[in-house]
Amino acid sequence: MTTVIPWNEICDTLKPLDGGGEGEIYSCTWQGRDLVLKISEIEVQLYEIIKEIDAVVPRVGITETPWGPAVLMEKASSVASSPRSKEDMLAVFGALRQLHARGWIHGDVHPGNILLWHDMVVLSDFGLATPEGHTVRGRPPARYASPWQLRAGPAVPAMDLYSWVLTSCHLVSGMVCWRGMAEPAIIFRKDSDPVPPEAPWLGEHLTVIPPDPDVSWARGVLDTIFGHVPSF
Ligand SMILES: Nc1ncnc2c1ncn2[C@@H]1O[C@H](COP(=O)(O)OP(=O)(O)OP(=O)(O)O)[C@@H](O)[C@H]1O
Ligand SMILES: [Mg+2]
Repeated sequence: MTTVIPWNEICDTLKPLDGGGEGEIYSCTWQGRDLVLKISEIEVQLYEIIKEIDAVVPRVGITETPWGPAVLMEKASSVASSPRSKEDMLAVFGALRQLHARGWIHGDVHPGNILLWHDMVVLSDFGLATPEGHTVRGRPPARYASPWQLRAGPAVPAMDLYSWVLTSCHLVSGMVCWRGMAEPAIIFRKDSDPVPPEAPWLGEHLTVIPPDPDVSWARGVLDTIFGHVPSF
């Protein structure tokens, strides 16, 4: 059951969160707990689904702010930085697949949306989530977005998985693909070649994404990444 937290129990404790997005993320205190509040209709709509996913920041409740519905969650310690292990990236893959199994596409998979909660790597920011088959509601930075998401096609799991491959590449070693290229140049180039010039060995993993891959596909991707980039 969803816990509904009365707005008047938290409104006086609200503070903008350092590094928070576009005025929609705050820290607050409720019953002595330090929490994060995010104003987002879609995160509230997905509340029960997200709560069931393993690698996410635990949800505490929802509330109605004067600016719209909001979700309350526990406070993560930071954005996840590299280097990360295979197990870390498999946890993110697992979270995405749990979401896909419920008919939703995350739509914004990139390193800035992977957080650390205690020592656990978690998937965050469901603000662009889209039901599978519906037109995407946005995209991650071009570097991480699939060509088919850049073309604003219907939401499919392969969009998140393409972004997960490049996010993994970055978080395993700090490697940035399409380095030094601005967004418009990346978008133009990806239209004809979805594979980064720095990592031609990612080719097959980015061009032939199975519609319903299991963990052995993810392990294969990570083995390729660990075989080519310096890990720590
Ligand atoms: N539970 C949390 N604990 C701690 N920090 C958080 C939490 N959720 C989000 N943040 C911080 O707020 C930032 C923005 O959050 P989020 O990505 O959910 O929102 P957004 O509106 O999509 O912002 P952006 O446009 O920056 O992606 C995150 O990158 C992270 O630094
Ligand atoms: Mg974000």
